[in-house]
Amino acid sequence: MASSSSVNLEDVPSESLMTELLRRMKCATKPEKRLILIGPPGSGKGTQSPMIKDEYCLCHLATGDMLRAAVAAKTPLGVKAKEAMDKGELVSDELVVGIIDEAMKKPSCQKGFILDGFPRTVGQAQMLDEMLEKQGVKIDKVLDFAIDDSILEERITGRWIHPASGRSYHMKFAPPKVPGVDDVTGEPLIQRKDDTAAVLKSRLDAFHKQTEPVIDYYWKKGIVAKLHAAKSPKEVTEEVQKVLS
Ligand code: AP5
Repeated sequence: MASSSSVNLEDVPSESLMTELLRRMKCATKPEKRLILIGPPGSGKGTQSPMIKDEYCLCHLATGDMLRAAVAAKTPLGVKAKEAMDKGELVSDELVVGIIDEAMKKPSCQKGFILDGFPRTVGQAQMLDEMLEKQGVKIDKVLDFAIDDSILEERITGRWIHPASGRSYHMKFAPPKVPGVDDVTGEPLIQRKDDTAAVLKSRLDAFHKQTEPVIDYYWKKGIVAKLHAAKSPKEVTEEVQKVLS
């Protein structure tokens, strides 16, 4: 049954329809892939994700983006998550596992997914394994964005984002065409509340204590590929492509 929000295809410009058709034809030939991106704040997970998503026709599930949307919309989930996020601490395992379980059911995840910022604790990794076992699938690769902490403050404090799309810029390393404005929509860019040097300290602390053991968890399964995330964005992209080809 057509819903009131369904799109009348006759109203969609032919060029957009053709582009989507060509995209779907290209995607039909791609193998399924299920990937995890792990790395400290500012290591480049969100920067590399759009390329991986487009190249392999995957959905991009970033728990940080989903939680920020819930906080902005003041949903019950957002209200629960806000305090921990503002302090740079992790949100409870149950909350994030619930949103990932739901998000994976989207049609855009048919060819697989990129998990960006999840799992972040060994408990989350175990719950993910149980979830995937029920679906009869498994993680193919874990990309470990390895980088020294000392590089991250400049990356984090110089980052500007377009909240609606998640597009990320950097005032020195990846500036927008017009300062303070998104290249695609022309809308204003903002800085994240947790992108300060002080909150970064807590986020790094959480990464080393709670998330690094997750890399060991997958290392034992033999599916971790280590990337040199301190290199330029282009060089990191080349490493990702080599690992995934
Ligand atoms: P989240 O949003 O996931 O933040 P994060 O992991 O801290 O990661 P970032 O988004 O900061 O870094 P990124 O690696 O994507 O860097 P980017 O590519 O933008 O999580 C936020 C909070 O949500 C958490 O603190 C927690 O409270 C909660 N949360 C989320 N998931 C959770 C979970 N699973 N469990 C519990 N709590 C959870 O790059 C950064 C900047 O550097 C950009 O400006 C970019 O342009 C630039 N840059 C990128 N690559 C390069 C390069 N190679 N060279 C130079 N500059 C570069």
